[in-house]
Order: sequence, then C-alpha cells, then structure tokens
Amino acid sequence: MHVAVNTPLSALQVMQDAPVIPVIVLSDVAHAVPLARALVAGGIRMLEVTLRTPQALACMQAIAREVPEAVVGAGTVRSPADAQAAARAGARFAVSPGYTRTVGQACRDAGLALLPGVATGSEIMQALEDGFTELKFFPALQAGGPAMLKAWGGPFFDVRFCPTGGVTLQNAPEFLALPNVVCVGGSWLVPADALVKGEWGKITQLAKDTQTLRK
Ligand code: 3PG
Repeated sequence: MHVAVNTPLSALQVMQDAPVIPVIVLSDVAHAVPLARALVAGGIRMLEVTLRTPQALACMQAIAREVPEAVVGAGTVRSPADAQAAARAGARFAVSPGYTRTVGQACRDAGLALLPGVATGSEIMQALEDGFTELKFFPALQAGGPAMLKAWGGPFFDVRFCPTGGVTLQNAPEFLALPNVVCVGGSWLVPADALVKGEWGKITQLAKDTQTLRK
C-alpha cells in the first residue's frame, strides 16, 4: 500500500499495513531516526511512539521529518491536548489507552486517524456511537484475550480490533486467527536494551519475524 503524504489516513489503513503495530517508548531523540529506519527495513511502517516520555514529541518530529517511508503515530493519547501536540509534531494517527468523546473529537479535528482503546462492551458502544469502528482492545491479554474477542464478535460483528497488551510473537497467531482482528500491537519489537545499545539490526530482524504473522 502506498501511503500518500498529507492525505488523511483511516484507522483501517493503519491496521492493515502490517500484522503488528510496534508500541515504542523513546527517551533519547538520537534513537528515533535509526529506530524508525530499522523498523522500516523490517517491513513495518506504522510506528506508534508513546507519549510517555518528555522526548516523545521531538522523536515524532524527527521521524516525520527524516524518515518519509515511515508513518508516525502517537500512542498513549489521553487528552485533547495530547492529540493536538501529536498532530503538530507530525503524527498521522493516534492510539489511546481508553476512550473519551473529547479525545475522539480532538483527533478528528486534528486530522488524526484514531484507534480508541476499549475493554468493555459499554466502551465499544460509546465508540460506535461516535463513529469509530476500528478499536484497540487494551489490555488485551489481561482483559480476556482471544476468548473476549470471540464473545464480542457476536454483538459487535461490525467492529475490528487491534489487541494490544500482553501480545507476543508466540501468542499473536491466536489473536490474528480471529475474523475480527486485523493486526496486533506490542512493545516486543523495540526492546529497551536494544535501543540503548543501538542494535538496529536486531530490531530489523524482530520486525522481519512478524511478517510470518501476516493474515
Ligand atoms: C502499551 O500500551 O504499553 C502496550 O499495551 C504494550 O503492551 P506490551 O508491552 O504488553 O506489548
């Protein structure tokens, strides 16, 4: 899939690009560009940089500016201000650990595709009411795992999920085998020690390993 710069993305495009969306925690701006290049070399372009460190926005900016093959997104978007700051930093999609109407609206206003986080039927209903049909199931393993997604497939037959939280290369196939799962999210592609040591080849290999998960 070609992702045109400046064209708004849909949440489905974000989910369909690769079997895994990496959940990235960066605390050194110098790591951002080599990390993004390493993931792109392994076939992963949708990069979720979490807003969990003071450096996160600068890291997004660096990736957006210097790695045009990557599509940078913001993770851990918890407020309208987060969404606005992420968009200003060059993010094109957002992932939130939960869902509120104000975050949903702020992402729309900022032109960010949003994967809202849900863990209950009521949260899914709220997101659906607001027009979001592609959702992140978080924390996936802890909140019921594949069995929960199977149960939701009945009443929420029109919702597609990206389970995140406790997902690994080993258990990802069980999630991806479900008809209502498009991709998974996980932090295992970017181990903190590999970042610190600058083991970019190792990260490229971890990204390549996920291609066997393709649906
Ligand atoms: C997160 O937002 O931290 C993600 O759910 C990552 O979870 P993981 O570390 O279990 O992959």
